[in-house]
Amino acid sequence: MNYTQAYAAWMADQEVAWAKAAEGLLWRRRWERVFDPAMGTYGQWFAGGSLNVAENALDRHVAAGHGERTALIWDSPVTESVRHVSYAELRDRTAKVAGALRALGVAAGDRVVIYMPMVPEAAIAMLACARLGAIHSVVFGGFAAPELAKRIEDATPRVVVCASCGIEPGRVVAYKPLLDAAIGISAHKPDACLVLQRPMLNAAMTPGRDHDFTEAEAAATPAEPVPVAATDPLYILYTSGTTGKPKGIVRDTGGYAVALLNSMRMIYGVAPEDVFWTASDVGWVVGHSYIVYGPLLLGCTSVMYEGKPVGTPDAGAFWRVAAQHGVRVFFTAPTAIRAIKQQDPEGALMRAHRPAKLEALYLAGERCDPPTAVWAAEKLGVPVVDHWWQTETGWPITAGFRGYGLFPPKPGSGGRASPGYEVVALDDAGKPLPRGESGNLAIRLPMPPGCAPTLWHDAEGFRRAYLADFPGWYRTGDAGMVDGDGDVWVMGRTDDIINVAGHRLSTGAMEEVLAAHPAVAECAVVGARDEVKGQVPIGLVVLKAGSGATPEEVARELVAMVRERIGPVAALRDVRVVPRLPKTRSGKILRGSIRRIADGEDPQAPPTIDDPAALAEVAAALGR
Ligand code: COA
Ligand code: AMP
Repeated sequence: MNYTQAYAAWMADQEVAWAKAAEGLLWRRRWERVFDPAMGTYGQWFAGGSLNVAENALDRHVAAGHGERTALIWDSPVTESVRHVSYAELRDRTAKVAGALRALGVAAGDRVVIYMPMVPEAAIAMLACARLGAIHSVVFGGFAAPELAKRIEDATPRVVVCASCGIEPGRVVAYKPLLDAAIGISAHKPDACLVLQRPMLNAAMTPGRDHDFTEAEAAATPAEPVPVAATDPLYILYTSGTTGKPKGIVRDTGGYAVALLNSMRMIYGVAPEDVFWTASDVGWVVGHSYIVYGPLLLGCTSVMYEGKPVGTPDAGAFWRVAAQHGVRVFFTAPTAIRAIKQQDPEGALMRAHRPAKLEALYLAGERCDPPTAVWAAEKLGVPVVDHWWQTETGWPITAGFRGYGLFPPKPGSGGRASPGYEVVALDDAGKPLPRGESGNLAIRLPMPPGCAPTLWHDAEGFRRAYLADFPGWYRTGDAGMVDGDGDVWVMGRTDDIINVAGHRLSTGAMEEVLAAHPAVAECAVVGARDEVKGQVPIGLVVLKAGSGATPEEVARELVAMVRERIGPVAALRDVRVVPRLPKTRSGKILRGSIRRIADGEDPQAPPTIDDPAALAEVAAALGR
């Protein structure tokens, strides 16, 4: 089948198309309705069906005689380790860790927070939760204790699984003290913590609450997979919204498994046994879908990489891993490629390692600028595919389709809509715009299987954030257009979310931290263009009269506060003091104009600006 046929088949009858895709999984009970429009906020997929995702990702392959096949290759240049884990071993370890969690009281429907670096045990903990029908919520290691606390408080986990440390270039990050601090802050206290002691750092344990991961796993009775309703949550993944309160994106079980399995073949064009590598982190949606669940559901070998694109040890690290493990399809963020390009512009390290089996490079997390896509395609000699998606959707909205022979997309575009999504640009009144005109990118309801059915304990918030503005459509929060060929061009967010080195961050959350400083009267944070990271946050603050502190002192304190309260991942390093902020006459801060000044562009101030001189003051403070 080619892309046009697949898209037309889906358009002709969505339910038939998705039911066919669902046949590839092991169902404990077949669904009663492929789609039930009466369930949830906009309907739910595979209502009445039951299955277990870990059973589908592991036991199903072992039962089919593939137990010896490698499921995971853990490659960790920061610890100089490489480990191969077979499907049988991964199934057995998952069953034991599930047994250990069950012994700590975890049952179907309970939440488990996972705060771990890129070690196999992080994937095992996720799969162990899935095996029990428990709902995991992984928190990225670059978030500080107060952010972890927000997630613990909202998800109310029975158990938290954590490691003693993560390893960043040049430093060991002690995770466990951050967890202890987070539990101290959170009103909800978990019953127990399961702590993986890594050899680089031993964590202090709280007697009665903390348990050693390795000992608990060894002592556990293996747990069998617990079938759950297809519509039950598999996980919650918190992501940045426009305020300091993260959004708890809920992922269902059946629809997600169907969508991922389907996407592995249709988008990435891989088959069981192929080596698939996503260089991201299990703390992000990309890691959930394409380090853990997607490749394992299909029976691929998934590479799990604990390292960076540069500095571990050099800009050839990705090509070394791809060559050493025979990676067929590789997925990372454009920022990583830009970091490599900066250090190895001629691609000498790429040639030295020669990843001979590599057939395609997929990119997502932010728009890939055409020069980076063209550079990578030229140097690597393989198609480079930018594809667009969000934590909310769980799998690509648009892509180039290796499985259907439609790739790569035009450089700069995110490709065509995946069968399952109808994408249009809407004007501000919600009217579809003609092809070629830019507007609010939206997806016609219902969303396909795998997309978030709701927010955790906040169905109303889900409606408000995504469904209310354009009835009948899901508002993506991205601006862009669909061109005459049907290719989608995603040009940026319509809200206060920024993308820093492939990490989704809220400028609103950073502003909340800056505003909490006693010397700050007013503030604004914007995302300014950055050559490697895509965007970086810049803070502008107005000081209270007579606060006494020097602007330099306050700026230093503010940078430290954001690091302590949100985490190093926020990467706010630049705070400038200004006499006032540019505003409209009604008092709205002109963040768009500030951002354009930071980018060295015309601020395009609206006629309603209160005092245009404030723009010149911002330009002077930013040295533009
Ligand atoms: N645990 C603890 N700290 C972490 C962390 C983690 N898991 N991940 C990042 N950090 C820290 C970093 O050490 C850094 O701290 P520092 O300020 O003390 O140096 C800070 O957070 C910012 O990190 P990062 O944004 O990664 O910037 P960088 O300058 O260290 O590296 C890149 C730049 C481009 C190499 C890097 O961001 C990268 O590899 N990006 C790819 C991102 C990605 O894969 N995203 C997934 C979406 S598909
Ligand atoms: P996240 O939820 O962290 O995956 O971030 C989702 C947001 O990242 C999207 O809403 C976009 O703004 C941006 N994004 C992700 N992938 C792309 C892409 N390929 N092109 C343009 N923007 C992207």
